[in-house]
Amino acid sequence: MFSRSTLCLKTSASSIGRLQLRYFSHLPMTVPIKLPNGLEYEQPTGLFINNKFVPSKQNKTFEVVNPSTEEEICHIYEGREDDVEEAVQAADRAFSNGSWNGIDPINRGKALYRLAELIEQDKDVIASIETLDNGKAISSSRGDVELVINYLKSSAGFADKIDGRMVDTGRTHFSYTKRQPLGVCGQIIPWNFPLLMWAWKIAPALVTGNTVVLKTAESTPLSALYVSKYIPQAGIPPGVINIVSGFGKIVGEAITNHPKIKKVAFTGSTATGRHIYQSAAAGLKKVTLELGGKSPNIVFADAELKKAVQNIILGIYYNSGEVCCAGSRVYVEESIYDKFIEEFKAASESIKVGDPFDESTFQGAQTSQMQLNKILKYVDIGKSEGATLITGGERLGSKGYFIKPTVFGDVKEDMRIVKEEIFGPVVTVTKFKSTDEVINMANDSEYGLAAGIHTSNINTALKVADRVNAGTVWINTYNDFHHAVPFGGFNASGLGREMSVDALQNYLQVKAVRAKLDE
Ligand code: NAI
Ligand code: MG
Repeated sequence: MFSRSTLCLKTSASSIGRLQLRYFSHLPMTVPIKLPNGLEYEQPTGLFINNKFVPSKQNKTFEVVNPSTEEEICHIYEGREDDVEEAVQAADRAFSNGSWNGIDPINRGKALYRLAELIEQDKDVIASIETLDNGKAISSSRGDVELVINYLKSSAGFADKIDGRMVDTGRTHFSYTKRQPLGVCGQIIPWNFPLLMWAWKIAPALVTGNTVVLKTAESTPLSALYVSKYIPQAGIPPGVINIVSGFGKIVGEAITNHPKIKKVAFTGSTATGRHIYQSAAAGLKKVTLELGGKSPNIVFADAELKKAVQNIILGIYYNSGEVCCAGSRVYVEESIYDKFIEEFKAASESIKVGDPFDESTFQGAQTSQMQLNKILKYVDIGKSEGATLITGGERLGSKGYFIKPTVFGDVKEDMRIVKEEIFGPVVTVTKFKSTDEVINMANDSEYGLAAGIHTSNINTALKVADRVNAGTVWINTYNDFHHAVPFGGFNASGLGREMSVDALQNYLQVKAVRAKLDE
């Protein structure tokens, strides 16, 4: 597809298990990609700085892998500290020169809306890129792109509705407050919803007048680079959005530690989130974190069983289980436990796993070999802890990172498979006798991202919703996102909220102005 001038002897320090090869090379700035569904497109390979695709300063590149085939898709340029420096300078200039935060805010809204429209016009290619790079079922990618479009459009509408207060302090003074942007925001995103996480980060930052330097995940860099070509076309000025592809330990650290970055927004593992929070503390940066989970999904005996089973299926196998809020701990009321297990086992076994470009596939590939290995390791841990493997528990095929939907029963609440985030299509099922007992079990976790409640009794639903420690509670549904409903975690699941009007306050600060008037 292209020629690599010099082969670097280094392999990746990447977190993925199949070593991503890293080279010094002179890549063309775009490479042609033929998608498995017949669509073709040009993939940008550069970093996106100052509204231009540029090679990385050291001409380093890394390999991007298709997790469904384990084959190379292409190489792209790998950013380093010096590239982050250039991106931050560009973002800082764009912030200081007023080309973005100094304009009539309605024009920020119009540009963001235009970006959404450009994405909408090209949504088939964009959804396909996501499936190629991440391995998720094409139906899931289409759902992601719809959420991206709606969220960008909805955020655009907030641009001219950010107001302050006039404070009456008597006739001697005139006092008012204004909400102003923070400056350059560093944003670090994961690989499970690459473009959706891009949208959740850039939209609230941009609409409030900030500028951003964003790092995509090393295993899924393609979609954010591809849509960057629409940024200048949408009328967003140079330097407002900068994308530096690369690795966490290099680009991620450089973003977190850069003195000109005023705020860090991160989605990913709790361990990395903790580390970022500590590093950002040194620079007194504002931080928002959307981290891991081990969310309870509770089925009461009066739930409509068939619907509950479908919701539990969606809760754990959607997006191949690589969902921070996956309903990975299922609790079932004792009187229906046996019937539930029978139906849930059958439903799990009937899920179509495989080629994510096949329209009938529900569960595609895991995104990386690291993730595949991690999930299989947890299957072994579950077996050795004495849980009963009800179904699944093994890799599907030998090419591509596919895993059979996996259910463990007879679990004890202190088992690692019940306590720790697995981030794959693996679920534990526990029996409960009373509402108090299930609430205690549900809340016995360091996390608090989401919870599900399945019942036909409105009293049970609302009372349990009030008592579970979770940032999101779904009743008779699960993994049911809407751009106008905030999302974020209690406890070790994070800080701050994304989406809706709630996301805006993460990117604004209050300025109080008090003028003394002549006597
Ligand atoms: P990670 O949290 O290390 O990676 C997420 C992002 O952080 C990536 O862009 C990565 O390059 C970056 N990063 C890594 N180290 C960094 C550092 N020192 N400074 C700044 N940025 C850094 O997660 P990883 O290793 O990809 O996956 C491990 C586990 O994390 C998964 O098995 C899953 O349990 C969890 N996870 C949770 C996600 C969520 O949505 N809550 C998303 C991705 C992973
Ligand atoms: Mg990939």
